[in-house]
Amino acid sequence: MKQVSDKETMTILQLAEDCLSSEGDFVELGCFEGDTSLLLAEVLKNNNSKKRLWIYDSFEGLPEKTENDFSELGRDFKKGELFTTKRFVKQRFLRANLPVPRIKKAWFSELKNDDLPEKIAFAFLDGDLYDSIRDSLNLVFPKLNENGKIVVHDYNNPQLPGVSKAVDEFLEKSDWNLKTTLSLAILSKRS
Ligand SMILES: C[S@@+](CC[C@H](N)C(=O)[O-])C[C@H]1O[C@@H](n2cnc3c(N)ncnc32)[C@H](O)[C@@H]1O
Repeated sequence: MKQVSDKETMTILQLAEDCLSSEGDFVELGCFEGDTSLLLAEVLKNNNSKKRLWIYDSFEGLPEKTENDFSELGRDFKKGELFTTKRFVKQRFLRANLPVPRIKKAWFSELKNDDLPEKIAFAFLDGDLYDSIRDSLNLVFPKLNENGKIVVHDYNNPQLPGVSKAVDEFLEKSDWNLKTTLSLAILSKRS
């Protein structure tokens, strides 16, 4: 099932294209079945970019919620929902004749610095829950290029209140700019 709306996808791809001239690779934390990953790979291919795409998921579905994620509206987002396999995602890239990205199966809390590229130009964070977004931001932030961008899905989604909490707490500790559109938070060093 589609997790990101068409309008959101168009915005994400445009922002990714804007980062093509920044040094660093593209990453997606929370790739699920790879819908957005495939399109990000297409952006790189269509622009003859040498950048690589790195994608991450538990491939065990969502982890347990914490108290930061509680919302009556979001009661369908349960542990183990959104399960898929790394093999399924890899096959989709092969079938689409796109370069297979680095696909890492791990909980974000277990990822080490070396599991991410040295420099990141564009990051799409789509882990749905407070801990997942907090951990993603902590991993990506130190590696992000000065002119790079982080896009967080579900920032304006009352079903998933942990996302905005994690982003807002992150922004309190940094001097980064926040712009929002649709359900997306767009974080950059410069406005
Ligand atoms: C909404 S889906 C992602 C949708 C995807 N970005 C797309 O464009 O179709 C959320 C994904 O995040 C993964 N996820 C959430 N929290 C995670 C965590 N802490 N560690 C690893 N994966 C996580 C889930 O397994 C799920 O596949």
